Amino acid sequence: MNTMPSTAVAHPNIALVKYWGKRHIDLNLPATGSLSVTLEELETRTTVEFLEDRGHDTLHLDGGPVASGRELDRVESFLDRVRERADLECGAHVETHNHFPTGAGLASSASGFAALAVAATRAAGLELSGRELSRLARQGSGSAARSIFGGFVEMHRGTAEDGSDAYAEPIASPDHWDLRCLVAETDTGQKEIGSTEGMLHTERTSPYHDAWIETVERDLETARDAVESRDFEALAEVAESSCLRMHADALAADPGILYWNGATVSLIHRLREARRNGLDLFFTIDAGPHVKVFCTPEAESDVIQLLADRDDVLNLHEASLGPGAHIVEGM
Ligand code: DP6
Repeated sequence: MNTMPSTAVAHPNIALVKYWGKRHIDLNLPATGSLSVTLEELETRTTVEFLEDRGHDTLHLDGGPVASGRELDRVESFLDRVRERADLECGAHVETHNHFPTGAGLASSASGFAALAVAATRAAGLELSGRELSRLARQGSGSAARSIFGGFVEMHRGTAEDGSDAYAEPIASPDHWDLRCLVAETDTGQKEIGSTEGMLHTERTSPYHDAWIETVERDLETARDAVESRDFEALAEVAESSCLRMHADALAADPGILYWNGATVSLIHRLREARRNGLDLFFTIDAGPHVKVFCTPEAESDVIQLLADRDDVLNLHEASLGPGAHIVEGM
């Protein structure tokens, strides 16, 4: 019996307190918790169908040719977990579209595995809770565990060896605090070192890694409180320092990993100056050269102007806070 095709939409999330390090590689358990916001406008849309006469999985990414190599391997091993749970043996057809640049540090693996978790479990006839979906998505990509939920989300490190307590949870809904996010692209190419590889290399070789890990718990507390009390200044400070410390850890690896380009650095200086001059904004940067700028709705048009006026910002995406991953009707 073929199963019904199921389509899910998931949005990327941006970590304000970063995840950078693993306590278990095979189960993909994070070494620390993290805290993020899920964005609205950018999205991944994925359809999954299990086909009885299929012995293998096929994957179509952004309407391109059938995917192979590492991309397909990651999806196949993820689907194996779903098949095991649902007692299915057949292959699946997966169609996925990213409505933003793939692999450019815009966290497409987060929305990608969150959408896949929701669509594949539904297609397999499973009814999982948000927590179970988050745990499952984590095994595809750590940050995907957070995209299961909307608004402000905290990922728990957990302490259990089997990873049963390593899942994300929503801490405030999107309408708790109207923040805006501008994603400033500063490069058009694919990133050189993916986050998984960069994180593992940092963990193995950076003398700063233990110090980084030690700071995260306190940052989580500060960020949680700042979100609860809508304290923009406090959130700005903790988010920028979490970002800079994560990059300092990666820079100290051997050889050092430098995700930034000249435009990234120049933007940091410009944004800090604007903040000193009273504009409510802060930046964060992930495993790539792009800069994500958060601001209040009141500051948004000035921030857009500041970014749009620059030659080194190649593309600008505007986003607000959005919902968690969910099933949609039709493709
Ligand atoms: C810099 O979730 O992509 O974006 O679990 O190995 O798939 P894997 O890593 P991934 O790492 C995200 C790293 C980051 C920071 C963050 O999103 O917290």
